[in-house]
Amino acid sequence: MDKYVIHGGKPLFGEVNISGAKNAAVAIIPAAILVDGVVRVENIPMIQDVIIEMEILRELGVKVRAVNPGTLEIDSRGLNRFSAVSDLNLKMRASYYLIGAFLGRFHRAEVAMPGGCNFGGVRPIDQHMKGFEALGAKMDTRGGVVYADATEGLKGANIYLDVVSVGATMNIMMAACMAEGQTVIENAAKEPHIVDLANFLNSMGADIMGAGTDVIKIRGVSKLTGGVYSTIPDQIEAGTYMAAVAAAGGSVLIKNIIPKHLDCITAKLEEMGLEMEEVDDSIRITKTGKLRRIQVKTLPYPGFPTDMQPQLGAVLCLAEGTSIITEGVWESRFRYSDELRRMGAKIQVDGKVAVIEGVEKFTGALVRASDLRAGAALVIAGLAAEGTTEVEEIAYIERGYEDLVGKLQRLGADIRRVSVPAVAIPKAN
Ligand code: UD1
Repeated sequence: MDKYVIHGGKPLFGEVNISGAKNAAVAIIPAAILVDGVVRVENIPMIQDVIIEMEILRELGVKVRAVNPGTLEIDSRGLNRFSAVSDLNLKMRASYYLIGAFLGRFHRAEVAMPGGCNFGGVRPIDQHMKGFEALGAKMDTRGGVVYADATEGLKGANIYLDVVSVGATMNIMMAACMAEGQTVIENAAKEPHIVDLANFLNSMGADIMGAGTDVIKIRGVSKLTGGVYSTIPDQIEAGTYMAAVAAAGGSVLIKNIIPKHLDCITAKLEEMGLEMEEVDDSIRITKTGKLRRIQVKTLPYPGFPTDMQPQLGAVLCLAEGTSIITEGVWESRFRYSDELRRMGAKIQVDGKVAVIEGVEKFTGALVRASDLRAGAALVIAGLAAEGTTEVEEIAYIERGYEDLVGKLQRLGADIRRVSVPAVAIPKAN
């Protein structure tokens, strides 16, 4: 029941260092079990999702240690199991990457999958399954566990993805890099973390070409060996701090980023009237006046990222005029709007479209995160709000942001993490 308490209305100034990309890290860590050697991965964010993945690998007998903050050493030479069915798996969506990694290494996999929904819609994995089947695996799901069997060997294949899927592209890539012959993934996702996973695997001896385009060609190899790799910076974390400045005001240097990866975000913020100045691996964002209304639709990369949609939604509540957001990736992702309304926002949601009428200010309220990025949107609103905002269910936020409170405090925000002891409910007689 820990929460963030934010006294809003303070503009942000200074510099913030962006951590390694969550969505790259949560794929690279399981991919490391494809490697028959010791892997050292630098620039890993120490977030809850990474900590859970480290625990999952340890349960399997993989040696995982943090050699220094942000650097993991993963030694899976002793790994001889292809089954991950513990409760830990159910705690994170990205456990599905173990299917591709186990298949590549052992030609078999048994992985418990989280059920239920997220962002208010289902998260299917049919494209992952279709890809593994094309590579020769027999796939089955029973009792919440995905079983994959390719004991007769994985064979390269042509795979056309019916929807552009980050997870399916990465998962198929992991299995295919150890298959016999060539695999071609068409209509592949092009996100920077896809390129990052391909670069990681190539640096360990894989043969993957075309990552970052919609056709990826993978020639299977028989073995991957160890090495050192550094994860890309997190474009969504960077975008989140930019959105915080857009809402609360101020001027912040966002450091340790790849500006090109942020083009889709900075273009929209510039359209809203924010000033951006790019310097090497940093961008300075400055708010100089009122925010202008915009229209935005989320799309696969290089479109505007769905993982920045709630944070931008919070900012648009403070823009002049009426803005429109269309969610183009997930079925629905506007659960945060109910909470923002409690802070004074005027948002109407109809399916995949949100119509936001700008208001002068947010007012502090008690609000609850419903997922990671929805939580970030509430923090952003709290930083801009008049009065005190309390954000509950912060476990969601801490799955994906490294040291959010510390980084914001160093920018001058008045935000604290407060531990609330669980209240013991007396037993009824
Ligand atoms: C990843 C990110 C998530 C982000 C999303 C889109 C991780 C751990 N998570 O999720 O934060 O919001 O990319 O950028 O990297 N789909 C299918 N069948 C499938 C797979 C996906 O229909 O087999 C659909 C989904 O329902 C969704 C769309 O494809 O509508 C995109 O999903 P996908 O790119 O696969 O998202 P994830 O990889 O799960």
